Amino acid sequence: MLKGKHIILGICGGIAAYKSATLLRLLVKAGAEVQVVITPAGKEFITPVTLSALSGKPVVSEFFSANTGEWHSHVDLGLWADAMVIAPATASSIAKMAHGVADNMLITTYLSAKAPVFVAPAMDLDMMAHPSTVANLELLRSYGCHIIEPAEGELASHLVGKGRMEEPEKIFDVLDDFFTPKDLAGRRVLITAGPTRERIDPVRYISNYSSGKMGYAIALEAARRGADVTLVSGPVSIGIDHPRVRVVSVESAREMLDASMAAWPESDVAVMCAAVADYAPASAADSKIKREHQDVPVLHLVKNPDIAATLGQCKRPGQILVGFALETDHEIDNAAEKIRRKGLDAIVLNSLRDAGAGFGVDTNKVTIIAADGTSTPYPLKPKAAVAADIIDYITTKN
Ligand code: CTP
Repeated sequence: MLKGKHIILGICGGIAAYKSATLLRLLVKAGAEVQVVITPAGKEFITPVTLSALSGKPVVSEFFSANTGEWHSHVDLGLWADAMVIAPATASSIAKMAHGVADNMLITTYLSAKAPVFVAPAMDLDMMAHPSTVANLELLRSYGCHIIEPAEGELASHLVGKGRMEEPEKIFDVLDDFFTPKDLAGRRVLITAGPTRERIDPVRYISNYSSGKMGYAIALEAARRGADVTLVSGPVSIGIDHPRVRVVSVESAREMLDASMAAWPESDVAVMCAAVADYAPASAADSKIKREHQDVPVLHLVKNPDIAATLGQCKRPGQILVGFALETDHEIDNAAEKIRRKGLDAIVLNSLRDAGAGFGVDTNKVTIIAADGTSTPYPLKPKAAVAADIIDYITTKN
């Protein structure tokens, strides 16, 4: 979402300035054009050479270039920007911003900026808690600035408390989220993800290789676009951190069915991404099956409930149900048959024959097939980009 966006990165004189290089790198990697404006004190903590190398632009700090006498127009910069982010923002710069003390290039640029301004404070815990800082931040909030609250942790002073500048990745996410269209605002999305585990005894289970990456990527994308997401997840080793995602952790297909059915009546969309085990042991042993006590045990399996099909049977008009199909052969025919059998509106097909698609990897290559048989193929992409394609498909086709 930041591709082509003009971002002013303001850097003040604090130890957290070293993290600004990472933030700058993330912004540039995402395709943003970044102009660094640094205070004189900021240059004591990180060099303009580092910042200009990373941004590909000379760093602006003074009103005039010492060599050429060229005037750096804070007004032009303020108009150029799509957003301004000040990270780290020190107590003194926050105070100057709050009271219009325009004694350096960064503050004049801030006062001239027409674009939204994001402020990531960084200071010692007592400075952060001081009533003047609290009041100044409140003033900035009242002017419409977005304050990216500092985290708690060990500070440069070795004291522990609130004042650590938020991590560059988090600041990046705030900006990215700001520019992401909220076309799913007010919608509720249910997603199943990961494998299920079917218990044999207290130490053994039947499962599969699903990593949950695809489902988690869809959950994050739906949340970024404004949806309230319920993510019903089997056991995975990945996490998700978004205020609009509620994770319901389950283990077996039965538990996944119950959690999904609880969320489905209130949902507008469901994307069934989980690799549900097709079979479960008819009964799980209460204690560990011991090797020496018996011959080779025979596992009696029973069919698991089909979660997607169960949701399909009680689908209300207007609800959208999307499934996944991981196939190895007769892909299109098998996928079309699953649409019918499970009452889906569309199915996302990935073939294990495509390199880079399927379990565990960070990429996927999908074709989306609609209930009317139309199919939309997509090239191999990172799973986050595939997730965006799937959400685009759902929002544009419905
Ligand atoms: N699915 C489900 N519950 C199951 C099995 C599958 O909800 N018990 C969902 C999956 O999450 C996916 C879709 O149904 O969205 C297709 O899953 P898949 O495993 O490909 O289909 P199966 O019905 O299990 O058919 P098969 O394994 O024979 O291909």
